[in-house]
Amino acid sequence: MKKLIARLPKAELHLHIEGSFEPELMFEIAGRNRVEIPFKSVEEIRAAYKFSNLQEFLDIYYQGMAVLREEQDYFDLTRAYLDRCKADNVTHVEIFFDPQGHTGRGVPFDVVAKGIIAGLEDGERRHGITWRLIMSFLRHLSEDDGFATLKEAEPWLERFAGVGLDSSEQGHPPAKFARLFRQCRAMGMLLCCHAGEEGPPEYVRQALEIGVDRIDHGNRAMEEPSLIREIARRNLTLTVCPLSNTALKVIARMADSPVRRMLEAGLSVTVNSDDPAYFGGYMNANFEAVAAGLALSKDDVVQLAKNSFTGSFLPEAEKLRWCAAVETARVGQTPLVLLRTDRKRRTHDNACYRHRGGPDRDLFSQARTQ
Ligand code: ADE
Ligand code: ZN
Repeated sequence: MKKLIARLPKAELHLHIEGSFEPELMFEIAGRNRVEIPFKSVEEIRAAYKFSNLQEFLDIYYQGMAVLREEQDYFDLTRAYLDRCKADNVTHVEIFFDPQGHTGRGVPFDVVAKGIIAGLEDGERRHGITWRLIMSFLRHLSEDDGFATLKEAEPWLERFAGVGLDSSEQGHPPAKFARLFRQCRAMGMLLCCHAGEEGPPEYVRQALEIGVDRIDHGNRAMEEPSLIREIARRNLTLTVCPLSNTALKVIARMADSPVRRMLEAGLSVTVNSDDPAYFGGYMNANFEAVAAGLALSKDDVVQLAKNSFTGSFLPEAEKLRWCAAVETARVGQTPLVLLRTDRKRRTHDNACYRHRGGPDRDLFSQARTQ
């Protein structure tokens, strides 16, 4: 199983770039920026990564990202993540960043966006990894703060595929951001929303009401048959994060992961690493953990790899190409798309979504209005 997982091409659809900040790099950047951190060693940092809920994690996550100041820091962070993707055969990424976690400390929006995008472009050049960037709003802040961030982001919007909603879920329902999301939709952005991680099924219902294109986590949707039916009807993808779920006590043990139940319900579920530096593993570790915890079959694992592409924001033709590549890799051959000459051709423009309105977007809007 481990070998199969390693050789399948995969897409990562739920990853907070700030959550890939490994302690070694944190120490290095804190040193060069002369920022004090309350830990004496990498080991001490890792020892602090014990969480009993989402908020305990978020407190440390915001503290960790506070050492990021310069464009080079954001570049190094992104570059390191993409090197890990290459090692795990992740060939396409759709990553979140939390601008308010930086601008709120006085780092200019441009510094953050420039550094991350340069890192993504560098990864595409070096490894052929294609990408989408998603600007995520912090839900513990006000909707007005979100509007101010959208305004700041204006010069960059063509480089972002969409927006997301993350941070402390309980007490901050999607409906709090309904106007902001409506505005983002009107500007042509795709919509993602963390819902049903710790928050109740009602929050997933509100995300559906807003008309999101993807639900991040979505675990607690499985408590409501009507939600399961609606998610299936709209063919919405749920980006589940197995090691995150156990680390944050969203589930007591891996055997309780909703991945199998989602597959059995015919839902488009994917496996993702969320904040791998904090939760103990990148993509392949998440696949291995959930496959072992749920005794998944090889067919299940192949389905999850295909879902990662079909649930992505890639154009339809790319999705089909990657699904064929998954099939080829399953039987132990190297997919043509991963051979060197072909990878060059695979590179495509990641910018200019707003006025693109391609077939993918049509599909999504059809699903919403059905
Ligand atoms: N921000 C980073 N990781 C998150 C998670 N798992 N849930 C909500 N917000 C987050
Ligand atoms: Zn997340």
